[in-house]
Amino acid sequence: MAEVSGLDAYMINQEKEVIDASKKVKMGIIGTGWIAECHADSLKKMPDVEVVALADLVPGKAEAFAKTWGLEDARIYNSDEELIANEKDIDGVCICTYNTQHAPCAIHALNAGIHVLLEKPFTVTLEEAIEVMKAEKKSGKILTIGFQPRMSENMKMIKTIVDSGELGKVYYIQAGGGRRRGIPTPFGTTFIEKETGGIGALGDIGCYSLDMLLNAVGYPKPLTVTGYKSSYFGTDPKYYPDHPEYAEKFGVDDFAAGFVRLENDIVLDFRISWAMHMDTCGDALILGTKGGLRIPSTDCWNGEFDKPLTIYKTLGDQTIEYKVPLKPADNQLFYKKIRSFVDAIKNGGEATVPSSQIVINQAILDGLVKSAELGKEIEIEIPEI
Ligand SMILES: NC(=O)c1ccc[n+]([C@@H]2O[C@H](COP(=O)([O-])OP(=O)(O)OC[C@H]3O[C@@H](n4cnc5c(N)ncnc54)[C@H](O)[C@@H]3O)[C@@H](O)[C@H]2O)c1
Repeated sequence: MAEVSGLDAYMINQEKEVIDASKKVKMGIIGTGWIAECHADSLKKMPDVEVVALADLVPGKAEAFAKTWGLEDARIYNSDEELIANEKDIDGVCICTYNTQHAPCAIHALNAGIHVLLEKPFTVTLEEAIEVMKAEKKSGKILTIGFQPRMSENMKMIKTIVDSGELGKVYYIQAGGGRRRGIPTPFGTTFIEKETGGIGALGDIGCYSLDMLLNAVGYPKPLTVTGYKSSYFGTDPKYYPDHPEYAEKFGVDDFAAGFVRLENDIVLDFRISWAMHMDTCGDALILGTKGGLRIPSTDCWNGEFDKPLTIYKTLGDQTIEYKVPLKPADNQLFYKKIRSFVDAIKNGGEATVPSSQIVINQAILDGLVKSAELGKEIEIEIPEI
């Protein structure tokens, strides 16, 4: 039987999982903002996990978080570095900081020999991702990137269809989805400021859109990219009737598009939107020599869609199409993402969403930004680590 690893191994183990709680995995959370709540909620449900430390740069924020989440026993720190310097026995950390702090926090943790679950996007730039991967390699610790849609059976079906050969040789992939009005400012401006978000729609939902398509076709490397980005909505005070001052702070993209040549003679036609005068950029498409796949548009990218996948083929002299029934929506994707990380720590396993794949995702995001800023096509080279 072929050896299985990573996400496949995790999924197989999940089916027969009985949690051994005799030894606790000691975990910390770095950054106690919005998404850290989902991490705390999941970690608290695990009988073999102890959340021993919390850190946030904002004074009092981690203490308040500890109270809200019943984590009063956790030690509180004012930065990732302070937590790492003091927690010599910690096994792993969930890094839930805003994007521009992903790379430094991950590097600090890996250098200290701590396993890392890093929230998406991997980093802001390709250069940062490479530095994180160097620290990962040197440390020999697990680094997994927080793409919970990978845990979805419906998302997995996209890859299953491509791998089955039903589409033949894939030559074109087209990103879809996007939001008409969806600039995320629910708890402030960390997503939209250059200093904290670094990139906008690209890093928030563009990375998910890319992961869905690129994972399905085996993560081919990018060769060249022509990118475009704009910020017409985010910089307009009328967009935020309750907070017109946000427009001044907006320093990232709210729309981006691009054309990317990939290895294996595949091209990617990309677009993503936080805001536009349109309901959707359309469905995502995968075209192959024997069939085409239509993936319904989504604006939330939480890992599920509400309509079935459709496959387009030729049968004899007829063009036909058929639906792939949806599996029931799974509301445990976030828990499963964190569980897979904890299991990898306990069992000496591998990252379910490894940096070796997501560096390609990051190279495309970074290439789109750099090409857009230069106003011309650029070549992409991912350095060997
Ligand atoms: N996987 C998902 O579904 C999902 C959903 C939302 C957000 N995210 C990602 O999670 C990250 C955080 O998003 P958020 O909405 O929680 O942001 P947020 O701004 O609400 O919280 C981030 C927190 O990190 C803290 N922080 C920053 N640098 C730090 C450091 N060096 N040490 C300690 N604390 C530090 C900040 O003070 C802030 O409180 C983003 O990168 C975002 O893309 C993922």
